[in-house]
Amino acid sequence: MKVLQVSAEIFPLLKTGGLADVAGALPAALMAAGCAVRVLLPGFAPILADLRDDTTLAELTAPWGDVVRVRQGVLTSLGVHAYVLDAPQLYQRAGTPYEDAQRQPHHDNHLRFALLGWVAAQLACGLDRHWQPAVLHSHDWHAGLTSAYLAFGPAKGRRVATVFTVHNLAYQGVFAPIHFYDLGLPAQAFAVNGLEFHGQLSFMKAGLYYSDHLTTVSPSYAQEIQTPEQGCGLDGLLRVRAHDLSGILNAVDEAVWNPAHDAAITAKFEAKKPAGKARCKAALQQALGLAVQADAPLFGVVSRLTEQKGLHLVLAALDALVARGGQLVVLGTGDAALEAAFTARAAARPEAVSVRIGYDEAYAHRIFSATDVTLVPSRFEPCGLTQMYGFKYGSLPLVHRVGGLADTVVDCALENLADGSANGFVFTEFTQQALERAMRRALALYARPTEWRSVRQRAMQQPLGWDQAAAQYAALYRQLVAS
Ligand code: ADP
Ligand code: GLC
Repeated sequence: MKVLQVSAEIFPLLKTGGLADVAGALPAALMAAGCAVRVLLPGFAPILADLRDDTTLAELTAPWGDVVRVRQGVLTSLGVHAYVLDAPQLYQRAGTPYEDAQRQPHHDNHLRFALLGWVAAQLACGLDRHWQPAVLHSHDWHAGLTSAYLAFGPAKGRRVATVFTVHNLAYQGVFAPIHFYDLGLPAQAFAVNGLEFHGQLSFMKAGLYYSDHLTTVSPSYAQEIQTPEQGCGLDGLLRVRAHDLSGILNAVDEAVWNPAHDAAITAKFEAKKPAGKARCKAALQQALGLAVQADAPLFGVVSRLTEQKGLHLVLAALDALVARGGQLVVLGTGDAALEAAFTARAAARPEAVSVRIGYDEAYAHRIFSATDVTLVPSRFEPCGLTQMYGFKYGSLPLVHRVGGLADTVVDCALENLADGSANGFVFTEFTQQALERAMRRALALYARPTEWRSVRQRAMQQPLGWDQAAAQYAALYRQLVAS
């Protein structure tokens, strides 16, 4: 079955968060599950630079006049066939894929990402006469217009099934209504039964409204987004679409995240041979100027510093953690106030707290390898990958019971320790007090090294690879194509 994956990011070429990790891991996993996968990506510089054996498939003029060369070839780093949108006027910019150097959204984001959906629909309609997908699988708002363009496009050939995956409903791609007229969609699309959202146009809503099937990246999140609390204004539509909505839990790309083979970390280790982990910890403590103490429980945060991630709770609980002998290492970037607050705490307690503001893939690996606990106290979390990287690297996750965190982490309560299901620490109330209690549970278990090691070993041995999720996606594709 031919599947075209449509996304704005892909690891290892372009990543701002977990979306890239998923987009980078899924093609190989789906191919192992029997699908023929190709990807469609915007022509950001690192993506174009990775494309080899490429040819021009077509030169097209978008409905609003931008000219795009659709190139195809193989992505060297992934070994996957890719279609890439070569439109330097749209994608060769300073800043991130979404924001300029001043952290403001690029003024023409509606066009930059409409193009992704528009070309996806062209491919579904036979743009490449040698390869026509049976399934279009698009990810997040950036690819949200895919199914809308297909719904109104030239329906040449057979029907193409559409799957839209919500990685984060909080980022919706909402634009002023005036921009609707650029998109080349018929006027009827700008309606409540369409992509209109409170008078604006919403790429996320387009994906939710026009796609055959919707998935989220964990089963819990599929339920949560149907409530007003977490529906971000779209819960009504999601309840209407509940029969076409399911959750498929993300997984870990074990070719990238595996302490037995990780070149980025100080010493390699695995569940049954964990000695290297202590060396990773000592080396990191030393390098960061933390007190080099093997028995000081080391907590880690690798995260975007945004409201979503609940890190103000960590700031609030930090003194209590340090007073109990804990240490904290943080790697993150984002909200300026959070960056400043964490930086100030590190300056105040350099022997116990280390903070690096920035984005550093290799350093993230070192943190998971060195820490005892990975903190993920998110207010909401569609899936979350870092708690699973914590499992892999023997850094037990401490999480808020929400979304994918609730679906993956089992608290070290006595009954869960007794039946062997415990793999981390979970708090339910989203408060400083609840976080502190969970930290105390972590410290109490840490003070019992034999039990700690046995929970850690089981956490590391959990099956976390993509095969199960890929099998679920493949089954979904088959079902949609057959219907
Ligand atoms: P989200 O996608 O909401 O940011 P996830 O947990 O799904 O959250 O994925 C985050 C990904 O980004 C992980 O691969 C994590 O290691 C990585 N990451 C986040 N912040 C940084 C950073 N500052 N430096 C390096 N990697 C980071
Ligand atoms: C989003 C979510 C995160 C999820 C990731 C990959 O960025 O915030 O929870 O793990 O996408 O699906």
